[in-house]
Amino acid sequence: MPRLTLRIVLALFVLSAAPATAVPLAAADSLEPVVARTAMASTGHPDASRAALQILRQGGNAVDAAVATGFALAVVSPDAGNLGGGGFMVIRRPDGTATTWDFRETAPSGAWREMYTDGGLSSQVGHAAAGVPGTVAGLIAAHTAEGRLPLADVLAPAIELAQGQFLSGRNAILFNRYRDEFRQFESTARHFTTSDGRLWAVGERFEQPDLADVLRRIQRDGRDGFYRGRTADLIVAEMARGDGLITHADLQGYRAVERPVLTSTYRGHRLLMMGPPASGGIALAQALRAVEPFPLARWGLQSAEAVHLAGEALRRAFADRAFWLADPDFVDVPARALLAPRYVASRMASFDPARTTASAAVSHGTPPDLPAEGTETTHYSVVDGEGMAVATTVTLNDYFGSKVAVGGAGFFLNNEMDDFATAPGEPNFWGLVQGEANAVAPGKRMVSSMTPVILEDERGRLFMVAGSPGGSRIISTVFQVVTNVIDFGLNAQQAVALPRFHHQWLPDHMEFEGGLPDATREGLGERGWLLDRLVRFGAANVVVVRYDDRGVRTLEGGADPRRDDDDARGY
Ligand code: GLY
Repeated sequence: MPRLTLRIVLALFVLSAAPATAVPLAAADSLEPVVARTAMASTGHPDASRAALQILRQGGNAVDAAVATGFALAVVSPDAGNLGGGGFMVIRRPDGTATTWDFRETAPSGAWREMYTDGGLSSQVGHAAAGVPGTVAGLIAAHTAEGRLPLADVLAPAIELAQGQFLSGRNAILFNRYRDEFRQFESTARHFTTSDGRLWAVGERFEQPDLADVLRRIQRDGRDGFYRGRTADLIVAEMARGDGLITHADLQGYRAVERPVLTSTYRGHRLLMMGPPASGGIALAQALRAVEPFPLARWGLQSAEAVHLAGEALRRAFADRAFWLADPDFVDVPARALLAPRYVASRMASFDPARTTASAAVSHGTPPDLPAEGTETTHYSVVDGEGMAVATTVTLNDYFGSKVAVGGAGFFLNNEMDDFATAPGEPNFWGLVQGEANAVAPGKRMVSSMTPVILEDERGRLFMVAGSPGGSRIISTVFQVVTNVIDFGLNAQQAVALPRFHHQWLPDHMEFEGGLPDATREGLGERGWLLDRLVRFGAANVVVVRYDDRGVRTLEGGADPRRDDDDARGY
Protein backbone atom coordinates (compact mmCIF):
# COMPACT_ATOMS: atom_id res chain seq x y z
CA MET A 1 0.00 0.00 0.00
CA PRO A 2 1.43 3.48 -0.79
CA ARG A 3 2.61 5.36 2.33
CA LEU A 4 -0.05 8.08 2.18
CA THR A 5 -2.88 5.56 1.70
CA LEU A 6 -1.61 3.48 4.59
CA ARG A 7 -1.50 6.56 6.82
CA ILE A 8 -5.03 7.54 5.79
CA VAL A 9 -6.38 4.05 6.55
CA LEU A 10 -4.60 3.97 9.90
CA ALA A 11 -5.78 7.45 10.78
CA LEU A 12 -9.38 6.57 9.91
CA PHE A 13 -9.13 3.50 12.11
CA VAL A 14 -7.80 5.55 15.01
CA LEU A 15 -10.48 8.16 14.41
CA SER A 16 -13.31 5.67 14.44
CA ALA A 17 -11.87 3.86 17.47
CA ALA A 18 -11.57 7.03 19.56
CA PRO A 19 -14.61 7.84 21.70
CA ALA A 20 -14.39 11.65 21.13
CA THR A 21 -16.99 12.02 23.82
CA ALA A 22 -17.47 11.98 27.56
CA VAL A 23 -17.21 8.64 29.35
CA PRO A 24 -20.27 7.83 31.48
CA LEU A 25 -19.90 7.21 35.20
CA ALA A 26 -20.63 3.50 34.83
CA ALA A 27 -17.55 3.09 32.60
CA ALA A 28 -15.23 5.41 34.54
CA ASP A 29 -13.64 2.75 36.77
CA SER A 30 -11.53 1.44 33.91
CA LEU A 31 -10.04 4.84 33.02
CA GLU A 32 -6.34 5.14 33.77
CA PRO A 33 -4.21 8.27 33.55
CA VAL A 34 -0.84 8.41 31.84
CA VAL A 35 1.72 7.94 34.63
CA ALA A 36 5.28 9.28 34.76
CA ARG A 37 7.96 9.95 37.37
CA THR A 38 9.77 13.04 36.11
CA ALA A 39 7.82 15.29 33.78
CA MET A 40 4.45 15.45 32.05
CA ALA A 41 2.72 17.46 29.36
CA SER A 42 -0.98 17.29 28.58
CA THR A 43 -1.86 19.30 25.48
CA GLY A 44 -4.25 19.57 22.57
CA HIS A 45 -2.13 17.62 20.07
CA PRO A 46 0.38 14.73 20.22
CA ASP A 47 2.99 16.75 18.30
CA ALA A 48 2.66 19.59 20.81
CA SER A 49 3.11 17.17 23.71
CA ARG A 50 6.14 15.71 21.92
CA ALA A 51 7.56 19.22 21.48
CA ALA A 52 7.19 19.81 25.23
CA LEU A 53 8.98 16.59 26.15
CA GLN A 54 11.73 17.20 23.58
CA ILE A 55 12.46 20.58 25.16
CA LEU A 56 12.36 19.15 28.70
CA ARG A 57 14.78 16.38 27.73
CA GLN A 58 17.09 19.00 26.23
CA GLY A 59 17.33 20.58 29.69
CA GLY A 60 14.55 23.13 29.35
CA ASN A 61 12.26 23.93 32.23
CA ALA A 62 8.45 23.88 32.24
CA VAL A 63 8.27 27.43 30.82
CA ASP A 64 10.59 26.53 27.93
CA ALA A 65 8.39 23.50 27.30
CA ALA A 66 5.16 25.52 27.56
CA VAL A 67 6.46 28.13 25.12
CA ALA A 68 7.55 25.41 22.69
CA THR A 69 4.09 23.85 23.08
CA GLY A 70 2.39 27.17 22.38
CA PHE A 71 4.30 27.68 19.14
CA ALA A 72 3.78 24.03 18.13
CA LEU A 73 0.02 24.30 18.70
CA ALA A 74 -0.04 27.34 16.41
CA VAL A 75 1.12 24.95 13.67
CA VAL A 76 -0.70 21.70 14.41
CA SER A 77 -3.98 23.05 15.85
CA PRO A 78 -4.70 26.13 13.75
CA ASP A 79 -8.34 26.20 14.89
CA ALA A 80 -7.24 27.26 18.37
CA GLY A 81 -3.48 27.22 18.77
CA ASN A 82 -2.29 30.48 17.38
CA LEU A 83 0.04 33.35 16.67
CA GLY A 84 -2.93 35.62 15.91
CA GLY A 85 -4.81 35.27 19.19
CA GLY A 86 -4.10 35.61 22.88
CA GLY A 87 -4.17 33.85 26.21
CA PHE A 88 -3.02 33.55 29.78
CA MET A 89 -0.24 31.66 31.55
CA VAL A 90 0.03 30.77 35.25
CA ILE A 91 3.52 29.74 36.44
CA ARG A 92 4.49 28.12 39.75
CA ARG A 93 8.23 27.92 40.32
CA PRO A 94 9.89 25.06 42.19
CA ASP A 95 10.27 27.30 45.29
CA GLY A 96 6.50 27.83 45.39
CA THR A 97 6.51 31.43 44.16
CA ALA A 98 4.13 32.12 41.32
CA THR A 99 3.34 34.64 38.62
CA THR A 100 1.01 35.07 35.66
CA TRP A 101 1.26 36.47 32.16
CA ASP A 102 -1.69 38.22 30.55
CA PHE A 103 -1.38 38.24 26.78
CA ARG A 104 -5.02 38.84 26.01
CA GLU A 105 -5.71 40.71 22.78
CA THR A 106 -6.50 44.43 22.91
CA ALA A 107 -9.03 46.45 20.94
CA PRO A 108 -7.25 48.34 18.12
CA SER A 109 -6.74 52.06 18.68
CA GLY A 110 -9.38 52.76 16.04
CA ALA A 111 -12.06 50.75 17.87
CA TRP A 112 -15.08 52.50 19.30
CA ARG A 113 -17.90 51.56 21.64
CA GLU A 114 -20.67 51.28 19.04
CA MET A 115 -18.61 49.73 16.24
CA TYR A 116 -20.64 46.50 16.24
CA THR A 117 -24.05 48.18 16.65
CA ASP A 118 -24.31 51.56 14.92
CA GLY A 119 -21.04 50.90 13.08
CA GLY A 120 -22.50 47.80 11.44
CA LEU A 121 -19.26 45.77 11.72
CA SER A 122 -19.13 42.09 12.64
CA SER A 123 -17.49 41.03 15.89
CA GLN A 124 -17.58 37.37 14.86
CA VAL A 125 -16.39 36.97 11.27
CA GLY A 126 -13.99 39.03 9.18
CA HIS A 127 -11.21 41.51 9.66
CA ALA A 128 -12.98 43.86 12.09
CA ALA A 129 -13.52 41.01 14.55
CA ALA A 130 -9.80 40.77 15.30
CA GLY A 131 -8.16 42.26 18.34
CA VAL A 132 -4.43 43.03 18.38
CA PRO A 133 -2.78 39.61 18.83
CA GLY A 134 -1.02 38.91 22.13
CA THR A 135 0.23 35.32 21.93
CA VAL A 136 3.71 35.98 20.54
CA ALA A 137 4.37 38.81 23.02
CA GLY A 138 3.16 36.61 25.89
CA LEU A 139 5.19 33.53 24.99
CA ILE A 140 8.33 35.60 24.40
CA ALA A 141 7.87 37.57 27.65
CA ALA A 142 7.38 34.40 29.70
CA HIS A 143 10.39 32.80 28.04
CA THR A 144 12.59 35.86 28.62
CA ALA A 145 11.59 36.02 32.29
CA GLU A 146 11.61 32.32 33.21
CA GLY A 147 13.09 30.21 30.41
CA ARG A 148 16.44 28.48 30.43
CA LEU A 149 17.07 27.38 26.84
CA PRO A 150 17.75 29.80 23.96
CA LEU A 151 14.68 30.96 22.04
CA ALA A 152 16.13 29.31 18.92
CA ASP A 153 15.82 25.87 20.56
CA VAL A 154 12.33 26.51 21.87
CA LEU A 155 11.00 27.48 18.44
CA ALA A 156 12.73 24.64 16.58
CA PRO A 157 9.98 21.99 16.99
CA ALA A 158 7.28 24.36 15.68
CA ILE A 159 9.37 25.33 12.64
CA GLU A 160 9.95 21.68 11.83
CA LEU A 161 6.21 20.96 12.09
CA ALA A 162 5.39 23.93 9.84
CA GLN A 163 7.61 22.46 7.15
CA GLY A 164 5.22 19.52 6.96
CA GLN A 165 2.84 17.54 9.16
CA PHE A 166 0.43 14.71 8.50
CA LEU A 167 -3.09 16.04 9.00
CA SER A 168 -4.84 14.53 12.00
CA GLY A 169 -8.43 13.38 11.63
CA ARG A 170 -9.58 16.32 13.70
CA ASN A 171 -7.74 18.85 11.53
CA ALA A 172 -8.96 17.31 8.27
CA ILE A 173 -12.55 17.27 9.52
CA LEU A 174 -12.38 20.87 10.76
CA PHE A 175 -10.72 22.18 7.58
CA ASN A 176 -13.40 20.50 5.49
CA ARG A 177 -16.24 21.61 7.73
CA TYR A 178 -15.17 25.25 7.54
CA ARG A 179 -14.14 25.40 3.90
CA ASP A 180 -17.09 27.56 2.81
CA GLU A 181 -16.21 30.09 5.50
CA PHE A 182 -12.54 29.91 4.47
CA ARG A 183 -13.49 30.70 0.86
CA GLN A 184 -14.99 34.02 1.94
CA PHE A 185 -11.46 35.33 2.40
CA GLU A 186 -8.89 35.13 -0.37
CA SER A 187 -5.92 34.63 1.97
CA THR A 188 -7.65 31.95 4.04
CA ALA A 189 -8.69 30.04 0.94
CA ARG A 190 -5.11 30.16 -0.30
CA HIS A 191 -3.62 28.85 2.93
CA PHE A 192 -6.29 26.44 4.20
CA THR A 193 -8.19 24.93 1.25
CA THR A 194 -6.78 22.48 -1.28
CA SER A 195 -5.54 24.05 -4.53
CA ASP A 196 -7.76 21.78 -6.64
CA GLY A 197 -10.92 22.18 -4.56
CA ARG A 198 -11.07 18.62 -3.19
CA LEU A 199 -11.56 17.79 0.50
CA TRP A 200 -8.58 17.36 2.77
CA ALA A 201 -7.75 13.74 3.56
CA VAL A 202 -6.77 12.43 6.97
CA GLY A 203 -3.03 11.72 7.00
CA GLU A 204 -2.34 14.03 4.05
CA ARG A 205 0.89 16.01 4.26
CA PHE A 206 0.16 19.66 5.04
CA GLU A 207 2.96 22.17 4.55
CA GLN A 208 2.93 25.73 5.90
CA PRO A 209 6.04 27.43 4.44
CA ASP A 210 4.80 30.99 5.07
CA LEU A 211 4.07 30.15 8.70
CA ALA A 212 7.53 28.57 8.98
CA ASP A 213 9.00 31.88 7.77
CA VAL A 214 7.04 33.83 10.39
CA LEU A 215 8.33 31.46 13.07
CA ARG A 216 11.90 31.86 11.78
CA ARG A 217 11.56 35.64 12.01
CA ILE A 218 10.40 35.27 15.63
CA GLN A 219 13.26 32.85 16.26
CA ARG A 220 15.72 35.45 14.94
CA ASP A 221 14.22 38.72 16.23
CA GLY A 222 12.03 37.72 19.18
CA ARG A 223 8.83 39.77 19.48
CA ASP A 224 10.05 42.17 16.77
CA GLY A 225 9.86 39.25 14.34
CA PHE A 226 6.08 39.49 14.70
CA TYR A 227 5.18 43.02 15.78
CA ARG A 228 7.55 44.81 13.39
CA GLY A 229 9.00 44.22 9.94
CA ARG A 230 7.68 41.77 7.40
CA THR A 231 5.12 39.97 9.62
CA ALA A 232 3.63 43.26 10.79
CA ASP A 233 3.50 44.48 7.18
CA LEU A 234 1.60 41.33 6.19
CA ILE A 235 -0.91 41.78 9.04
CA VAL A 236 -1.54 45.42 8.16
CA ALA A 237 -1.86 44.54 4.45
CA GLU A 238 -4.42 41.86 5.40
CA MET A 239 -6.40 44.47 7.35
CA ALA A 240 -6.66 46.53 4.14
CA ARG A 241 -8.28 43.58 2.32
CA GLY A 242 -11.29 43.94 4.62
CA ASP A 243 -12.56 46.35 7.24
CA GLY A 244 -9.73 45.63 9.68
CA LEU A 245 -8.49 48.20 12.17
CA ILE A 246 -5.12 46.87 13.34
CA THR A 247 -2.28 49.29 12.52
CA HIS A 248 1.50 49.19 12.74
CA ALA A 249 1.26 51.39 15.86
CA ASP A 250 -1.19 48.92 17.47
CA LEU A 251 1.21 46.05 16.83
CA GLN A 252 4.31 47.88 18.05
CA GLY A 253 2.44 49.10 21.13
CA TYR A 254 1.12 45.71 22.21
CA ARG A 255 2.54 44.51 25.55
CA ALA A 256 2.04 41.29 27.50
CA VAL A 257 1.47 42.16 31.16
CA GLU A 258 2.90 40.27 34.13
CA ARG A 259 0.20 40.32 36.81
CA PRO A 260 0.22 39.06 40.40
CA VAL A 261 -1.26 35.61 40.81
CA LEU A 262 -4.82 35.53 42.19
CA THR A 263 -5.10 33.13 45.12
CA SER A 264 -7.91 31.41 46.99
CA THR A 265 -8.42 28.16 48.87
CA TYR A 266 -10.61 25.07 48.58
CA ARG A 267 -10.74 22.35 51.22
CA GLY A 268 -7.20 23.09 52.37
CA HIS A 269 -5.79 23.37 48.86
CA ARG A 270 -4.41 26.66 47.57
CA LEU A 271 -5.47 27.84 44.13
CA LEU A 272 -3.08 29.91 41.97
CA MET A 273 -5.09 31.60 39.26
CA MET A 274 -5.30 34.27 36.60
CA GLY A 275 -6.98 37.48 37.67
CA PRO A 276 -8.85 39.92 35.38
CA PRO A 277 -9.26 40.37 32.48
CA ALA A 278 -9.67 36.59 32.79
CA SER A 279 -12.90 35.98 34.66
CA GLY A 280 -12.21 32.28 35.15
CA GLY A 281 -10.10 32.61 38.29
CA ILE A 282 -12.63 34.69 40.20
CA ALA A 283 -15.63 32.66 39.00
CA LEU A 284 -13.94 29.30 39.74
CA ALA A 285 -12.87 30.43 43.21
CA GLN A 286 -16.33 31.84 43.97
CA ALA A 287 -18.07 28.64 42.87
CA LEU A 288 -15.67 26.46 44.88
CA ARG A 289 -16.12 28.65 47.99
CA ALA A 290 -19.88 28.45 47.55
CA VAL A 291 -19.94 24.62 47.56
CA GLU A 292 -17.24 24.18 50.23
CA PRO A 293 -19.64 24.08 53.23
CA PHE A 294 -21.61 21.22 51.68
CA PRO A 295 -20.81 17.46 51.81
CA LEU A 296 -20.33 16.85 48.09
CA ALA A 297 -18.48 13.57 48.64
CA ARG A 298 -21.31 12.20 50.82
CA TRP A 299 -23.93 13.27 48.30
CA GLY A 300 -22.06 11.41 45.61
CA LEU A 301 -20.34 12.01 42.29
CA GLN A 302 -22.79 13.42 39.71
CA SER A 303 -25.70 13.08 42.19
CA ALA A 304 -28.67 15.42 41.69
CA GLU A 305 -27.88 17.10 45.04
CA ALA A 306 -24.29 17.84 44.05
CA VAL A 307 -25.09 19.01 40.50
CA HIS A 308 -27.96 21.21 41.74
CA LEU A 309 -25.68 22.88 44.29
CA ALA A 310 -22.93 23.40 41.71
CA GLY A 311 -25.44 24.87 39.25
CA GLU A 312 -26.64 27.37 41.85
CA ALA A 313 -23.04 28.28 42.73
CA LEU A 314 -22.22 28.84 39.05
CA ARG A 315 -25.40 30.88 38.55
CA ARG A 316 -24.27 33.38 41.19
CA ALA A 317 -20.64 33.42 40.00
CA PHE A 318 -21.70 34.16 36.40
CA ALA A 319 -24.09 36.91 37.52
CA ASP A 320 -21.14 38.60 39.25
CA ARG A 321 -18.95 37.99 36.20
CA ALA A 322 -21.44 39.78 33.95
CA PHE A 323 -21.42 42.92 36.10
CA TRP A 324 -18.00 43.19 37.69
CA LEU A 325 -15.47 41.70 35.29
CA ALA A 326 -13.50 43.93 32.97
CA ASP A 327 -9.98 44.90 31.97
CA PRO A 328 -8.39 45.95 35.30
CA ASP A 329 -6.35 48.60 33.47
CA PHE A 330 -9.62 50.36 32.58
CA VAL A 331 -12.06 49.46 35.36
CA ASP A 332 -11.56 48.74 39.06
CA VAL A 333 -12.43 45.08 39.54
CA PRO A 334 -12.89 44.21 43.26
CA ALA A 335 -11.28 40.78 42.90
CA ARG A 336 -10.43 40.17 46.59
CA ALA A 337 -13.82 41.38 47.80
CA LEU A 338 -15.61 39.09 45.38
CA LEU A 339 -13.74 36.11 46.86
CA ALA A 340 -14.27 36.99 50.55
CA PRO A 341 -15.85 33.97 52.32
CA ARG A 342 -18.52 36.12 54.00
CA TYR A 343 -19.51 37.66 50.68
CA VAL A 344 -19.77 34.30 48.89
CA ALA A 345 -21.77 32.89 51.83
CA SER A 346 -24.17 35.85 51.57
CA ARG A 347 -24.66 35.09 47.87
CA MET A 348 -25.60 31.50 48.75
CA ALA A 349 -28.07 32.54 51.50
CA SER A 350 -30.91 32.18 48.98
CA PHE A 351 -29.80 28.64 47.99
CA ASP A 352 -32.68 26.15 48.30
CA PRO A 353 -31.64 22.48 48.15
CA ALA A 354 -35.10 21.58 46.82
CA ARG A 355 -35.64 24.28 44.15
CA THR A 356 -33.77 26.34 41.59
CA THR A 357 -33.44 30.08 42.12
CA ALA A 358 -34.60 31.83 38.94
CA SER A 359 -31.77 33.73 37.28
CA ALA A 360 -34.16 36.68 36.96
CA ALA A 361 -34.07 36.85 40.76
CA VAL A 362 -30.27 36.71 40.94
CA SER A 363 -28.41 39.81 39.86
CA HIS A 364 -24.81 40.60 40.71
CA GLY A 365 -23.96 41.02 44.40
CA THR A 366 -22.29 43.96 46.08
CA PRO A 367 -19.41 42.93 48.32
CA PRO A 368 -19.73 44.91 51.60
CA ASP A 369 -16.01 45.55 51.91
CA LEU A 370 -15.31 46.95 48.46
CA PRO A 371 -11.74 48.20 48.57
CA ALA A 372 -11.06 51.84 47.75
CA GLU A 373 -9.45 50.84 44.44
CA GLY A 374 -11.81 51.10 42.77
CA THR A 375 -15.08 26.40 21.12
CA GLU A 376 -12.12 28.06 20.12
CA THR A 377 -9.49 27.64 22.70
CA THR A 378 -6.83 25.18 23.77
CA HIS A 379 -5.27 24.52 27.17
CA TYR A 380 -2.03 22.79 28.09
CA SER A 381 -0.49 21.81 31.40
CA VAL A 382 3.22 21.11 31.89
CA VAL A 383 5.20 19.92 34.94
CA ASP A 384 8.98 19.53 34.83
CA GLY A 385 11.41 17.42 36.83
CA GLU A 386 12.14 20.21 39.31
CA GLY A 387 8.50 20.81 40.14
CA MET A 388 8.00 23.91 38.01
CA ALA A 389 4.44 23.98 36.66
CA VAL A 390 2.77 25.95 33.89
CA ALA A 391 -0.94 26.22 33.04
CA THR A 392 -1.57 28.00 29.75
CA THR A 393 -4.79 28.63 27.84
CA VAL A 394 -4.71 30.31 24.43
CA THR A 395 -7.50 31.09 22.03
CA LEU A 396 -8.70 32.58 18.78
CA ASN A 397 -12.23 32.57 20.35
CA ASP A 398 -14.37 30.64 17.82
CA TYR A 399 -12.87 27.82 15.72
CA PHE A 400 -10.31 29.54 13.45
CA GLY A 401 -11.22 32.90 15.05
CA SER A 402 -12.36 35.52 12.52
CA LYS A 403 -11.76 32.96 9.69
CA VAL A 404 -9.30 35.47 8.27
CA ALA A 405 -5.79 34.10 7.73
CA VAL A 406 -3.04 36.66 7.15
CA GLY A 407 -2.02 36.44 3.50
CA GLY A 408 1.61 35.38 3.09
CA ALA A 409 1.88 34.52 6.78
CA GLY A 410 -0.55 31.63 7.05
CA PHE A 411 -1.97 32.13 10.55
CA PHE A 412 -5.51 32.96 11.61
CA LEU A 413 -6.54 36.16 13.30
CA ASN A 414 -8.79 35.96 16.35
CA ASN A 415 -12.40 37.13 16.64
CA GLU A 416 -11.89 38.06 20.25
CA MET A 417 -13.65 41.42 19.88
CA ASP A 418 -16.85 39.41 20.37
CA ASP A 419 -15.81 38.78 23.99
CA PHE A 420 -16.48 42.45 24.70
CA ALA A 421 -20.03 43.40 25.59
CA THR A 422 -20.39 44.51 21.97
CA ALA A 423 -24.01 45.44 22.68
CA PRO A 424 -24.29 45.55 26.50
CA GLY A 425 -27.25 43.48 27.68
CA GLU A 426 -27.33 41.33 24.51
CA PRO A 427 -25.90 37.77 24.43
CA ASN A 428 -22.60 37.21 22.61
CA PHE A 429 -21.40 34.13 20.67
CA TRP A 430 -21.20 32.19 23.95
CA GLY A 431 -24.69 33.37 25.03
CA LEU A 432 -23.08 35.50 27.74
CA VAL A 433 -24.89 38.67 28.68
CA GLN A 434 -22.35 41.20 29.89
CA GLY A 435 -22.37 44.73 31.25
CA GLU A 436 -20.99 48.19 30.69
CA ALA A 437 -17.67 47.49 32.39
CA ASN A 438 -16.74 45.25 29.45
CA ALA A 439 -17.77 47.66 26.67
CA VAL A 440 -15.38 48.20 23.72
CA ALA A 441 -12.72 50.89 24.09
CA PRO A 442 -9.43 51.46 22.24
CA GLY A 443 -6.52 49.54 23.77
CA LYS A 444 -8.80 47.67 26.21
CA ARG A 445 -8.66 43.91 26.87
CA MET A 446 -11.94 42.01 26.55
CA VAL A 447 -13.08 39.80 29.46
CA SER A 448 -12.22 36.13 29.07
CA SER A 449 -13.55 32.94 30.61
CA MET A 450 -10.15 31.26 30.38
CA THR A 451 -9.28 29.49 33.62
CA PRO A 452 -5.72 28.18 33.77
CA VAL A 453 -5.15 27.09 37.38
CA ILE A 454 -2.47 25.48 39.52
CA LEU A 455 -3.34 23.93 42.90
CA GLU A 456 -1.17 23.14 45.91
CA ASP A 457 -2.09 20.41 48.39
CA GLU A 458 -2.62 20.87 52.15
CA ARG A 459 1.17 20.75 52.66
CA GLY A 460 1.88 23.45 50.10
CA ARG A 461 3.21 21.03 47.49
CA LEU A 462 2.35 21.16 43.79
CA PHE A 463 -0.87 19.17 43.39
CA MET A 464 -2.61 19.88 40.11
CA VAL A 465 -2.33 21.86 36.86
CA ALA A 466 -5.56 22.29 34.93
CA GLY A 467 -7.55 24.22 32.35
CA SER A 468 -9.78 23.79 29.34
CA PRO A 469 -11.16 25.41 26.20
CA GLY A 470 -14.90 25.95 25.81
CA GLY A 471 -15.70 29.68 26.08
CA SER A 472 -18.02 30.29 29.02
CA ARG A 473 -18.10 26.53 29.64
CA ILE A 474 -14.42 26.62 30.58
CA ILE A 475 -15.33 27.78 34.08
CA SER A 476 -17.80 24.96 34.80
CA THR A 477 -15.44 22.43 33.16
CA VAL A 478 -12.51 23.40 35.39
CA PHE A 479 -14.82 23.53 38.44
CA GLN A 480 -15.83 19.91 37.78
CA VAL A 481 -12.28 18.74 37.11
CA VAL A 482 -11.15 20.22 40.45
CA THR A 483 -14.06 18.78 42.48
CA ASN A 484 -13.78 15.44 40.67
CA VAL A 485 -10.23 15.11 41.99
CA ILE A 486 -10.54 16.75 45.43
CA ASP A 487 -14.06 15.75 46.52
CA PHE A 488 -14.57 12.52 44.65
CA GLY A 489 -11.03 11.14 44.60
CA LEU A 490 -10.87 10.55 40.85
CA ASN A 491 -7.64 10.11 38.93
CA ALA A 492 -6.58 12.63 36.28
CA GLN A 493 -8.15 10.74 33.38
CA GLN A 494 -11.45 10.06 35.11
CA ALA A 495 -11.62 13.70 36.17
CA VAL A 496 -11.53 14.97 32.58
CA ALA A 497 -13.59 12.20 30.99
CA LEU A 498 -16.86 12.21 32.94
CA PRO A 499 -19.96 13.89 31.44
CA ARG A 500 -20.29 17.53 32.47
CA PHE A 501 -22.97 20.11 33.17
CA HIS A 502 -22.90 23.86 32.71
CA HIS A 503 -24.87 26.86 33.92
CA GLN A 504 -23.97 30.51 33.29
CA TRP A 505 -26.83 32.53 34.89
CA LEU A 506 -28.26 33.56 31.50
CA PRO A 507 -29.79 31.83 29.67
CA ASP A 508 -31.53 30.23 32.66
CA HIS A 509 -31.08 26.60 31.71
CA MET A 510 -28.56 23.91 32.58
CA GLU A 511 -26.67 22.28 29.75
CA PHE A 512 -25.57 18.69 30.19
CA GLU A 513 -23.67 16.13 28.16
CA GLY A 514 -25.03 12.70 27.33
CA GLY A 515 -24.02 10.18 29.95
CA LEU A 516 -25.06 12.22 32.98
CA PRO A 517 -27.01 9.59 34.99
CA ASP A 518 -30.79 9.45 34.34
CA ALA A 519 -31.56 9.68 38.06
CA THR A 520 -29.53 12.89 38.24
CA ARG A 521 -31.43 14.46 35.37
CA GLU A 522 -34.73 13.46 36.97
CA GLY A 523 -33.62 14.94 40.31
CA LEU A 524 -32.64 18.18 38.57
CA GLY A 525 -35.98 18.33 36.77
CA GLU A 526 -37.80 17.91 40.09
CA ARG A 527 -35.85 20.88 41.45
CA GLY A 528 -37.03 23.05 38.57
CA TRP A 529 -34.01 22.99 36.24
CA LEU A 530 -34.65 23.45 32.55
CA LEU A 531 -32.24 21.01 30.94
CA ASP A 532 -30.66 21.32 27.53
CA ARG A 533 -28.49 18.54 26.11
CA LEU A 534 -25.24 19.44 24.34
CA VAL A 535 -23.15 16.86 22.51
CA ARG A 536 -19.96 17.85 24.32
CA PHE A 537 -18.04 20.80 25.62
CA GLY A 538 -14.62 21.60 27.04
CA ALA A 539 -11.43 19.63 26.53
CA ALA A 540 -9.53 19.62 29.79
CA ASN A 541 -5.83 18.84 29.97
CA VAL A 542 -4.66 18.07 33.46
CA VAL A 543 -1.65 16.92 35.46
CA VAL A 544 -2.17 15.67 39.03
CA VAL A 545 0.81 15.09 41.33
CA ARG A 546 0.60 12.28 43.92
CA TYR A 547 3.11 11.72 46.74
CA ASP A 548 3.89 8.53 48.60
CA ASP A 549 4.72 8.41 52.33
CA ARG A 550 8.33 9.35 51.60
CA GLY A 551 7.28 12.30 49.46
CA VAL A 552 8.27 10.62 46.18
CA ARG A 553 6.03 11.98 43.47
CA THR A 554 4.14 10.32 40.65
CA LEU A 555 2.65 12.43 37.86
CA GLU A 556 -0.77 11.57 36.44
CA GLY A 557 -1.68 13.03 33.06
CA GLY A 558 -5.28 13.35 31.92
CA ALA A 559 -6.22 14.23 28.33
CA ASP A 560 -9.83 14.86 27.48
CA PRO A 561 -11.37 12.09 25.32
CA ARG A 562 -13.77 14.60 23.74
CA ARG A 563 -11.11 15.70 21.24
CA ASP A 564 -9.19 13.08 19.29
CA ASP A 565 -5.97 15.07 19.35
CA ASP A 566 -5.74 15.69 23.09
CA ASP A 567 -2.70 13.91 24.42
CA ALA A 568 -0.86 13.43 27.71
CA ARG A 569 2.63 12.02 27.83
CA GLY A 570 5.56 12.03 30.21
CA TYR A 571 8.75 10.27 31.24
N1 GLY B 1 -12.74 33.56 23.77
C1 GLY B 1 -13.25 32.85 24.87
C2 GLY B 1 -12.81 33.44 26.15
O1 GLY B 1 -11.73 33.98 26.24
O2 GLY B 1 -13.58 33.42 27.09
